Amino acid sequence: MGSPSIHIPPALAQALRSARHIAVLTGAGVSAESGVPTFRDAQTGLWAKYDLEELATPQAFQRSPRLVWEWYAWRRELVAAARPNPGHYALVEMENRAPNFTLITQNVDQLHQQAGSRRVIELHGSLWRTKCSREGRVVESWPETGDVPPRCPHCSDLLRPDVVWFGEALPERELMEAFAAAQQCDVFIAAGTSAIVQPAASLPLLAARSGAVLVEVNPQETPLTGEADYFLQGPSGSVLPALVQAAWGV
Ligand code: OAD
Repeated sequence: MGSPSIHIPPALAQALRSARHIAVLTGAGVSAESGVPTFRDAQTGLWAKYDLEELATPQAFQRSPRLVWEWYAWRRELVAAARPNPGHYALVEMENRAPNFTLITQNVDQLHQQAGSRRVIELHGSLWRTKCSREGRVVESWPETGDVPPRCPHCSDLLRPDVVWFGEALPERELMEAFAAAQQCDVFIAAGTSAIVQPAASLPLLAARSGAVLVEVNPQETPLTGEADYFLQGPSGSVLPALVQAAWGV
């Protein structure tokens, strides 16, 4: 499974093998090799092509609910065609081997779950859930009236994707679990994230301050790179399998 061209320092392999608790934070970069666009990569990132303020804020939804709904429907189509890549599968292996394992993701594509990760903390929600824009309750089905966005079967208000928009709070339970894991883990891996969107970006720093070995996996340097004990420069689809191979020989 591992890639021989990526050097994993033996001390890091040992730290993973002996860790009682490994926590991982993933970002859009982990799904890049599955063909899902990231947000901030120059040229290919979604925010290079689309205006965040017009699409991913509560105000945007108030102004143009149809536009926002259709943009998320388009993203759902992109993701529906995507399959997990070796980086996602490596994290399933890690979950199988670490005594305690916490996978925290900023991704809304559910590719971790599709790969087989059993417990995933979704900090930014999911493209695959829909909720009522008024009451916030998740809705599984609604009458097909042709309305775009469709309407809540309970209160008739507009339905919206169950994702976190800029200016909105993250789900409380998920955030508390993520902070607890960052404080308790022995190794924290930040993979495929630009590490600039808060509060997710503070998790690796909290972990480092709490004594964890901090590992970053990214082809590019980020604000986190200087803080990391190990910066493994490369695509997560190669680096994460190499980590698993080095630590557990699988
Ligand atoms: P970004 O698009 O900000 O960052 C993606 C990161 O992935 C960059 O640092 C890239 O260098 C890196 N990358 C690119 N290809 C990679 C690969 N093959 N393997 C590993 N890394 C790779 O995405 P996030 O950090 O996830 O929020 O962005 C955080 C949040 O900002 C998102 O959840 C989203 C966005 O706006 C909301 O929508 C609320």
